Amino acid sequence: MSSKSTVLITGASTGIGATYAQRFAERGHDLVLVARNIEKLEANAAKLRQQAGINVDLLPADLTDETQLQAVETRLRDDASIGILVNNAGGNVGGTFVTQSVGDLTKLVTLNATSILRLSHAVAPRFAEKGEGSIINISSVLGLAPEWGTSVYSATKAFVLSISQALQAELGQSGVYVQAVLPAATRTDIWNFVAEDKRPPMMEVAEMVDAALVGFDRREGVTIPHLHEEAHWVAMEAARKALMQDTGHTSAASRYLAAN
Ligand SMILES: NC(=O)c1ccc[n+]([C@@H]2O[C@H](COP(=O)([O-])OP(=O)(O)OC[C@H]3O[C@@H](n4cnc5c(N)ncnc54)[C@H](OP(=O)(O)O)[C@@H]3O)[C@@H](O)[C@H]2O)c1
Repeated sequence: MSSKSTVLITGASTGIGATYAQRFAERGHDLVLVARNIEKLEANAAKLRQQAGINVDLLPADLTDETQLQAVETRLRDDASIGILVNNAGGNVGGTFVTQSVGDLTKLVTLNATSILRLSHAVAPRFAEKGEGSIINISSVLGLAPEWGTSVYSATKAFVLSISQALQAELGQSGVYVQAVLPAATRTDIWNFVAEDKRPPMMEVAEMVDAALVGFDRREGVTIPHLHEEAHWVAMEAARKALMQDTGHTSAASRYLAAN
């Protein structure tokens, strides 16, 4: 049993989530791994137990299934050893807004957005009461790019960024740390639905997660591993805040006043 807090990671069977599991295991944390594919979870767990000598519990769950999502919420509420939640599970749907089925899109919103809200809400009261705990939410740079053609995926990732920043403001006052990670293209199975010759150049997943963990250790609110010029993010946040400051008026802007 480790003296460090246990880390619950969703989407820990492959890709970014499996890499977070590897890294937190190397740091000596016990793990609770969540995903649907039990065989892959078992294989990852066996390797991590053997390599790092930590405890790994498996909590197989489809986060779009209400009963299975509730089981993960219950674990987060009741297991006081869990001090870090990594909301990583996510997916995408091929096609365009008009060709994608509304059922697939609704499920995508449940997985990419609602499950993050639900799991964060399950754990936040306990973290806030204790005055410590961390939530890592995997968003995407596509959350900043609504016009790039991945409409609903981008919207879910904008939600993840927004809720992360909101929770930083709210829970940060109680000593809880919330990080939004916005990767750009990273080599994982999520790209399987895109033909190989249509995929962009990609960062290797280990490099992406290691960079995100540097941001985590620095307690950054928003970490964008692929972004080389940090000034771009700083300028965007400054512009957003300046815009909000300019919305406290009680009269309409002159450009909307009827011409005399
Ligand atoms: N790779 C990129 O370029 C990139 C860029 C920006 C953001 N992201 C985000 O990074 C996160 C991880 O994605 P990835 O790139 O590592 O892709 P991935 O290898 O496809 O991993 C997705 C993970 O989510 C799990 N998952 C999918 N549907 C699930 C469900 N219904 N219930 C529970 N778990 C489910 C998968 O496990 P099972 O299939 O076993 O359930 C898998 O472990 C996602 O949120 C994604 O949007 C990725």
